[in-house]
Amino acid sequence: MAVTRQAVLEALGDIAGPDGVTPLPNSGALSDVVIDGGKVYFSIAVDPARAEEMEGLRKAAEIHVADLDGVEAVIATLTAERPASAAAAPAAQPARKTNENQGALPGVRHIVAVASGKGGVGKSTTAANFALGLAALGLKVGLLDADIFGPSVPKLFGLGGAQPALRDQKLVPIEKDGLRLMSIGFLVDEDAPMIWRGPMVMSAVTQLLRDVDWGVLDVLVVDMPPGTGDTQLTLAQQVPLAGAVIVSTPQDLALIDARRGVAMFQKVDVPILGVVENMSYFVCPNCGTRHDVFAHGGARAEAEKLGVPFLGEIPLTMAIREGSDGGRPIVVAEPDGVHAKIYRDIAGKVLATLDGPAAAPARARPRIVME
Ligand SMILES: Nc1ncnc2c1ncn2[C@@H]1O[C@H](COP(=O)(O)OP(=O)(O)O)[C@@H](O)[C@H]1O
Ligand SMILES: [Mg+2]
Repeated sequence: MAVTRQAVLEALGDIAGPDGVTPLPNSGALSDVVIDGGKVYFSIAVDPARAEEMEGLRKAAEIHVADLDGVEAVIATLTAERPASAAAAPAAQPARKTNENQGALPGVRHIVAVASGKGGVGKSTTAANFALGLAALGLKVGLLDADIFGPSVPKLFGLGGAQPALRDQKLVPIEKDGLRLMSIGFLVDEDAPMIWRGPMVMSAVTQLLRDVDWGVLDVLVVDMPPGTGDTQLTLAQQVPLAGAVIVSTPQDLALIDARRGVAMFQKVDVPILGVVENMSYFVCPNCGTRHDVFAHGGARAEAEKLGVPFLGEIPLTMAIREGSDGGRPIVVAEPDGVHAKIYRDIAGKVLATLDGPAAAPARARPRIVME
């Protein structure tokens, strides 16, 4: 017998929510419960500062639901914000339907593009480590490699030759380092000539987005194709983006390109979450001295001029390059290192913007419970 939503809510009613008193289903912290065959997904919104402390609550919720008849797997996640469903659609309405109306992906809370005006600035490296940084903050994260011309996710994660499985007509993302990954590179032979034209690129990206079983995600990071042409513009319009992170090197030329990138997203009303300066400075491995190879700091000044947040500076280092090119991104290879911290900080800043000023007052407001 298939498990029902009601049964799940009843089981969760035995557990106190984040305040330690109010039953979880009434606490306002519980997301929609999504049931897919024998699998049950839900998330619990908690104050990110208390995420570690709330791990017990998450586990208890999973265990209670796992005991129910007909349940094969339970995926409970902690998220850093209040579930949209608490304010929006009535809880009884299936999540899938609400989301489809908005053109969004079912189960995916935020889609964030990582973009650059031109190639070679370290966009993919930044996207991968940024996604890992978000995961390190306790979020469920996916990474979609939408760079049809030069997919890099298979190489970045050491997954050459990996092939995604098919389930219910959908591609199953490949799980690695705590991320769900999808890339055209998993589907097309690397050596096969790829002569894509504009419309084909669009349909390929749409497929990678829609025909993939992303499951429940807090953030889906999209490594966008480089440039600001029609393809990118259309893509930015088609994908329901929560915002864009622009990667730039400090060189002037790259900055001009970065400005174009910012302008492109502004044209289609996609918020700019901020600018990252990559290859910002070089720390000599021998003498430890910092060298500003490319007149560093340009991106920060430029971000200020454009009125968009500056998210951080990533140095040019061997460790980052070796990690990227060797299938072990730096956040995985050296999770306690200085570079991993830079990416986590960038992730934290973006997350704060995604949760946004709109979410903050809602969290602070006292809740009135009527019995
Ligand atoms: N901060 C960095 N320090 C050193 N090497 C980097 C850094 N960022 C990127 N790279 C290297 O630069 C090259 C291009 O990076 P990549 O992320 O593929 O750029 P893009 O996606 O913009 O084309 C790769 O070899 C990568 O390892
Ligand atoms: Mg790339």
